[in-house]
Amino acid sequence: MPRHFLRDDDLTPAEQAEVLDLADQFKADPLGSDALAGPKAVAVLFEKNSTRTRLSFEVGIAQLGGHPVVVDGRMMQLGREETIEDTSRVLSRYVDAVVWRTFAQARIDAMASVSRVPVINALTDEFHPCQVLADLQTIRERHGKLEGLTLTYLGDGANNMAHSLMVGGVTAGMHVRIGAPENFRPLDWVLAAAKARAAETGGSVELFSTPEAAVDGADVLVTDAWTSMGQENDGKDRVSPFRPFQVNAELLAATGKSDTSVLHCLPAHRGMEITDEVIDGPASAVFDEAENRLHAQKALLAWLVRRP
Ligand code: CP
Ligand code: NVA
Repeated sequence: MPRHFLRDDDLTPAEQAEVLDLADQFKADPLGSDALAGPKAVAVLFEKNSTRTRLSFEVGIAQLGGHPVVVDGRMMQLGREETIEDTSRVLSRYVDAVVWRTFAQARIDAMASVSRVPVINALTDEFHPCQVLADLQTIRERHGKLEGLTLTYLGDGANNMAHSLMVGGVTAGMHVRIGAPENFRPLDWVLAAAKARAAETGGSVELFSTPEAAVDGADVLVTDAWTSMGQENDGKDRVSPFRPFQVNAELLAATGKSDTSVLHCLPAHRGMEITDEVIDGPASAVFDEAENRLHAQKALLAWLVRRP
């Protein structure tokens, strides 16, 4: 059975550290690996919009000597009557790995269930684990370590970034806090998975309903869109409950620390979840974070294809 990366805890703490070390190596020497030479082909499929994920996978696969096949999933037979499982069986006959951005996590679970090649989650409604590998690489660059740091995420606590930061962050031994309005708390089963992993690593997860308490003492602040892709018409007020959680200069100062860094996976809605002053200011690691998508995903691909 191939290894897949469908959610953050698909890597053990030791494996996550191995991938992050490899990501640092690839950053220092971008053309130093031919892990996908042959070339190995990688299908990169999208059912939602993308800038960073699409570009970083396509460039990264090419840098590793592989051949990216990027397809808009909305143009595939998948968008008509073909099943996910039949699609997966066919893809396994052509390519050496599948990268997929889709909606419900159950869809990527179905893709992986019959795949003979590694399947990588390029964002689902529930998780965005490739993003969090890049986030961890970025935090380690800024702070020199991960274990024991306090990371506070502010915004929609039930979205893919909140979930992946919880599960991926505690895998690295971090203390992850989620500051979110009452009706936007993480899903119970994800919280349980994060707590289970935290019990192994010494990390922790805590939920807060007020931003000031959530940010007190934080080494890292992270935010994300208040409306994720697919939620545009869900009938919820996705602005007013979130306003107190905006990452602005005042909330950054409320950490009480001078070296807090700020992350945002992008795309940012400036003036909504984050201010210009913060995203363009000295605490922001946002564009390093975007760059690190390339290095972290190359590391993940190289690591997965070596492990059939
Ligand atoms: N952060 C992120 O996944 O960006 P894209 O949606 O542009 O791929
Ligand atoms: N939570 C956002 C992340 C975008 C990269 C979304 O799913 O739209």
